[in-house]
Amino acid sequence: MPRSKYTIPALDPGDAQKVAERLQERLNALTDLHLTLKHIHWNVGGPNFIGVHEMLDPQVDAVRLMADDVAERIATLGYEPIGTPGALVKARTWDDYSINRAGTQQHLAALDLVYNGVNGDHRAAIEELEELDPVTQDLLIGQSEKLEQFQWFVRAHLEDTAGNLANAGASNEQEAAAKVAPREGALK
Ligand SMILES: [Fe+2]
Repeated sequence: MPRSKYTIPALDPGDAQKVAERLQERLNALTDLHLTLKHIHWNVGGPNFIGVHEMLDPQVDAVRLMADDVAERIATLGYEPIGTPGALVKARTWDDYSINRAGTQQHLAALDLVYNGVNGDHRAAIEELEELDPVTQDLLIGQSEKLEQFQWFVRAHLEDTAGNLANAGASNEQEAAAKVAPREGALK
């Protein structure tokens, strides 16, 4: 990873590199997430359209700010934050979001799985940062509080009165969408 000749004073240079590498992964995930949220905002339809369409924009704005904070933390550490789409696609370990025009429940069922991935990886990074850099860890902890709240907003649409999620057991986005599709066949 390219770097400056300095890092944050009092931070071990080897640790700084590990922190920067972990943050680059979180930057990739957050950039991918805010683009995916806009894609859903544009392609969602059917019952509850306006509620879901409008719920997503504040999430886009918040996640864009998170990406900015993570990128600037990488720079603060003396490393280059990489923000280009090609580099993101090359580095990421997941596929593009797989659903285009579809109903609100189908998108939310799939988006819940997207949040599983991002939020789980944020938690894993937080654990790893415990020893490496508590200041960077604090940044990700604050972000997780919002990201986990956003996933609750999504899940609240998928929950029945007994607390079961409509997409329970789905292992990918298509499966998750298929589980809720019978409830809204108009858009596919
Ligand atoms: Fe819009």
